[in-house]
Amino acid sequence: MKPVTHVRPAVPGDIPRILEIEREAEAAAHFSEADYQRALASDNTEAEVRRIVLVAGTPELVQGFLVARFLQEEWEIENVAVTKGARRLGFGARLVETFLQLSICSTKRIENSGAEAAAVFLEVRESNLAARRLYEKFGFTIAGSRTAYYRNPEEDAILYRYSFQ
Ligand SMILES: CC(C)(COP(=O)(O)OP(=O)(O)OC[C@H]1O[C@@H](n2cnc3c(N)ncnc32)[C@H](O)[C@@H]1OP(=O)(O)O)[C@@H](O)C(=O)NCCC(=O)NCCS
Repeated sequence: MKPVTHVRPAVPGDIPRILEIEREAEAAAHFSEADYQRALASDNTEAEVRRIVLVAGTPELVQGFLVARFLQEEWEIENVAVTKGARRLGFGARLVETFLQLSICSTKRIENSGAEAAAVFLEVRESNLAARRLYEKFGFTIAGSRTAYYRNPEEDAILYRYSFQ
């Protein structure tokens, strides 16, 4: 049975757990503690780079997180990871679902202020089928690829896009 999942905005106190989850997930993007501190500090409308940082888990323990930024009129999912022992329980899906709801709402606010945002994009290793199926489940479609984009090991990136319209 799938556990009851709680999703909420991350707070600075979540950073040690976020780093723990990220470090054990080879396929995740890897950021420093300072990067996460900056990402949380920019989780407001006045910051130069706007971000949404979410954590998901049971009430007792954070099991996964998602980081996205608003860049050049589009949202980019920069990182999403779920701890190995809690995969296939729906945490990743709840994170993406909540992010899409929040980004659509904040996009409406941006549109009211004159800017436009119509889509979410992301890059993923070609071989990362778990992540690709997750994004496809929410309607992300392939928008292109970048040859040998990743290192260690070298691999192409597949570009996915989700359109709000
Ligand atoms: C990708 C990741 C975040 C998915 O998280 P998760 O909590 O296991 O995903 P969920 O249980 O919510 O699964 C949602 C959907 O994703 C897809 N999916 C997830 N894991 C999958 C797998 N191993 N194989 C195939 N599809 C998978 C399925 O469509 C699934 O829906 P279903 O359960 O109805 O079949 C997780 O595997 C992970 O942390 N991977 C390492 C980090 C990473 O690759 N991040 C992405 C970088 S771009």
